[in-house]
Amino acid sequence: MKHNASTPPATAKVLLWSLLVALLATAAASLTVRAVAQTRSTAAATAAATTAPSPPTPVSGEAMAHTCAACHGTLGRLGDEAFMPLAAMPARQFVTTMIDFRESRRPSTLMGHVAQGFSDAEIQAMAEFFARVPATGDKP
Ligand code: HEC
Repeated sequence: MKHNASTPPATAKVLLWSLLVALLATAAASLTVRAVAQTRSTAAATAAATTAPSPPTPVSGEAMAHTCAACHGTLGRLGDEAFMPLAAMPARQFVTTMIDFRESRRPSTLMGHVAQGFSDAEIQAMAEFFARVPATGDKP
């Protein structure tokens, strides 16, 4: 094979360029990784700062009540769902039942665990919400 005199310098040039490009790419990549890591830690710090003091945030009874929908139906009304409805349940009955579940005074398969997630005030807020929901018809 006949060697062209201009080949070796050209190859060297290509090699140098690809080395340079590779170096730049590595530098850019590490910068990006660092920037992303920094953004993440800033976000984490911000999240920690906003959640850390955790004052007793007033959560609406309605918002909490939506977590019951999977089993008790949307707005505590039953369609084809398997469990008992909560809509229009008298507030006092609701509160007593929930606290009995929470304190294991009333036997349950699931509700003991569910009720443990709520304070007295939160149970009261949900009670007021469900009591206002008519058993059928529109949202109050
Ligand atoms: C994973 C399904 C599930 C979820 C979610 C759930 N429940 Fe229940 N609930 C049940 C079951 C099952 C019972 C029957 C008691 C038992 O076995 O735990 C029940 C019973 C009750 C009763 C008694 C009803 C009656 O007529 O005696 C109340 C009140 C109640 N739940 C309120 C709630 C509230 C409020 C929420 C939301 C914070 C909720 N439940 C979320 C499954 C659930």
